[in-house]
Formats: sequence, C-alpha cells, structure tokens
Amino acid sequence: MKEKVTVAAIGCSGPVAHHFVEGFCEEGANLRLLARKPHKVRRRYPQAEIVQGSMMEPADVARAVDGADAVFLVTPMGLSDDPSSEIEAARLVLKGLKAAGVPHLIYTSCLGVERKHGVGILDAKHAIEQMISESGIPFSILRCGTYMEDLFDLRVELLKKGKFLFPLNKSRRFTFTSQRDVPRFVTSELLAKGRVLNDRIDLVAPGTFSISQIEVLLSEAAGFEIRAPSRFPTFHLFRALTPVFRLRKDRMSSVIPLLVHFDKHGYHSKDARSDIGGFEATTLPAHLDRLLCQEPG
Ligand SMILES: NC(=O)c1ccc[n+]([C@@H]2O[C@H](COP(=O)([O-])OP(=O)(O)OC[C@H]3O[C@@H](n4cnc5c(N)ncnc54)[C@H](OP(=O)(O)O)[C@@H]3O)[C@@H](O)[C@H]2O)c1
Repeated sequence: MKEKVTVAAIGCSGPVAHHFVEGFCEEGANLRLLARKPHKVRRRYPQAEIVQGSMMEPADVARAVDGADAVFLVTPMGLSDDPSSEIEAARLVLKGLKAAGVPHLIYTSCLGVERKHGVGILDAKHAIEQMISESGIPFSILRCGTYMEDLFDLRVELLKKGKFLFPLNKSRRFTFTSQRDVPRFVTSELLAKGRVLNDRIDLVAPGTFSISQIEVLLSEAAGFEIRAPSRFPTFHLFRALTPVFRLRKDRMSSVIPLLVHFDKHGYHSKDARSDIGGFEATTLPAHLDRLLCQEPG
C-alpha cells in the first residue's frame, strides 16, 4: 500500500471474520472495528481501533465509518435457514453508510448468487447484492468460494487424525477462497490503486475440486491418509438433527440446509474467474501444504 488507509470493518467482530481482521492489520491498514462488546475484541486485536456499537444501529455504523477510506462488510447469517435477519442487518448498515457518505463499500458475498437457490445463507446474499448495487454507494462485491480457513483450519486436529468431516456426495465439486487473500486483494488491487469496481467479481482460488480429489490433496499434504466419512449415515444424521438445531437457535440450523444444497450441487460457479488482474490467489494445495506440513524432526 502506498499510504496507510483506514478500513472500517462492520460485522467483523465474530469468529468467521478473524482472518479478514488479522489480514487487514498485517497489510498495514488502520483497522477500525465496530463491536457490541469492545472488551472481547480489544484483547484479540490490540492493533485495531474499536468503536463500541451495533451494526443494527445506523447511527453506530455512521460513527464507526466516519472518515474511513473504505468500509468492509460481513453480514451475519440468520438462523433456521431464514434470510430475513441478514437482509435486515444489511439494510440498517446501508442506512448508516448513506448517512455517513462513505467513498467505498466492499462486501464479501458468495459464489453463484446472481440467482436465488432456496437456501437462506445464499438467498440473503442475492438480496443484499441487489440492495448494495441500488444504494448509490460506490461498491465492490467480492464473491467468495468456500473459505479454506473455515473448512480446514478449524478442523486441523481432526485432519491430523485422518478425518475430514465433510460427509457429502464425494463427486461434488467445490471452489475455494483463502480468507487471507481477501484483505490482500482489497489493499493491493482496490485501495492502493484507488479502484472501485461498482460490480461483482469472483475472488476464488484456481480450480474446482471434488471431495475425492480433496481427500487426495489432504493426504499428500499430511503424508498419511485423510478420508471424508461416507455420506451414510453421517449426512443423514445431520439432516435428522435439523429440528433440534432450530429449537436450540444454533447456527447449524442454517448450515445444514446449505450442506444439503452442496450435496446436490457442490459449490462452484462455471464462470468463476481466478485470474483477477495480476493478483495471485492462494491455491488449495498450497494452503493445505502450509496447514498440514509436518514439523521436521
Ligand atoms: N464462504 C464461506 O465458506 C463462509 C463460511 C462461513 C461463513 N460465511 C459467511 O460469513 C458471514 C458471517 O458468518 P457468521 O454469521 O457465522 O459470523 P460470525 O463470526 O458469527 O459473526 C457475526 C457478526 O455479526 C455480528 N452480529 C450478529 N448478530 C448481531 C446483532 N443482532 N446485532 C449486532 N451485531 C450482530 C456479530 O457481532 P458480535 O461479535 O457483537 O456478536 C459478529 O460481528 C455470513 O455471511 C456467512 O454466510 C462464509
């Protein structure tokens, strides 16, 4: 980056956005983070500026983004496969952003949401992309594949025991995004160059991989066999537990419908572009090698 830019991160105080926040700090941005409970995030991100407030309060959002060069937005998934709370969160954030008059909104969306899929997590992104493009705010929408850090890094201990907990049809294909690539792309390709896309792009790693191919990549990276469980019975057990997750207001009540969609269709876009200017996205084999490479001696 030529000059230090200020990025206001909204919806980034939870665990999913951890790699985005750390990445922005590593890329040298001044990071401002809106959080309902500042003491929780202050310990995690001592280098960030924390603004107390909620993304559901437009006045808090306007205060958090005041004077920032860009706003980086992650919207919180709703429960029970219902997209409405995520759409409402985006609506309230946009209200705050309009009041503040921000120069650039960067939104992390999902692959393939140019149409609805009947899945809450994806349909929320479809609606939010539409709202952003009609908001009049300069924007860049980054459509991401499955986050490598979310699928693999969080389960590294299980992977080291030879298990990859992804019990879906093994022929389904997936496209991936390294979360660390997102702040790297934003700072080097958008902010440093003063580029606002006013469009959507797929920010993905090269290639699509079936679960069988992922098993091979994992095994090669680890130096021992790593296998996904067969679809039966694990996938069916997950599905059967959906009403329990709904009752408990657990995020799995929305994740399971997404897994059902993945089991039918995989998660990739035919036209996903991985050649974005000169930007080199982290490849899946490189990520897995780094995650699973064994310590020497
Ligand atoms: N592509 C992928 O592989 C992938 C994987 C996982 C998730 N995602 C996407 O990442 C996004 C975030 O996922 P998540 O929801 O599971 O993230 P999360 O880590 O649980 O974070 C949710 C964020 O929203 C805030 N939030 C939630 N409810 C709120 C409320 N009522 N009022 C104010 N703030 C609220 C939280 O603030 P507090 O910290 O204050 O609670 C936190 O900052 C979703 O859009 C999801 O679809 C994508």
